[in-house]
Amino acid sequence: MPGSGDTRPDWLLVGEGPGEEEDFQGLPFVGRAGQLLDRMLRAMHLSRAEKVYITNVVKCRPPQNRNPEPAEMDACTPYLLRQVQLLQPRIVLAMGRFAAQTVLSHNEAGGTPSAQELQKMPLGKLRGQVFRTVVGGRALPVVVTYHPAYLLRNPAEKAKVWADLCLAMETLEKDNAQG
Ligand code: URA
Repeated sequence: MPGSGDTRPDWLLVGEGPGEEEDFQGLPFVGRAGQLLDRMLRAMHLSRAEKVYITNVVKCRPPQNRNPEPAEMDACTPYLLRQVQLLQPRIVLAMGRFAAQTVLSHNEAGGTPSAQELQKMPLGKLRGQVFRTVVGGRALPVVVTYHPAYLLRNPAEKAKVWADLCLAMETLEKDNAQG
């Protein structure tokens, strides 16, 4: 399940991996978490049809929706990085710790946090800031936020996610103004 959306997107949204419904339909985020993601996009005056491409770290459904294993993420990461190169988004929204770790640990410019540090850092320490990463020789901003499935279990965290989305929108606006 490679992903779907506008192939000239401003936004690249990266989740964890397809669940049962996504596997069945061949589309990302079409289950309950996806409905919440649609509402988040609507609040940003966006939709998955325009300016947004949605994908996942792993392209196949982990059995019983378990967490993806490191070897599975390693196997799929070149695909994700190639998607970033081809789609040329202007910003990446990494949703959840697997997306955050994968995107941030493949910064061609190096820098912090390191892959080892990232593994130990709770997502709460990665959100609320703008990382700059280089993929395929191209620099792009990355904002980390909680995964929509986490929000379904912890609705009180919605305000933090909205703050992250606002930060991402402001970053994109500023970058666009600078050309
Ligand atoms: N959760 C994800 O991380 N990705 C999907 O596509 C659906 C649910």
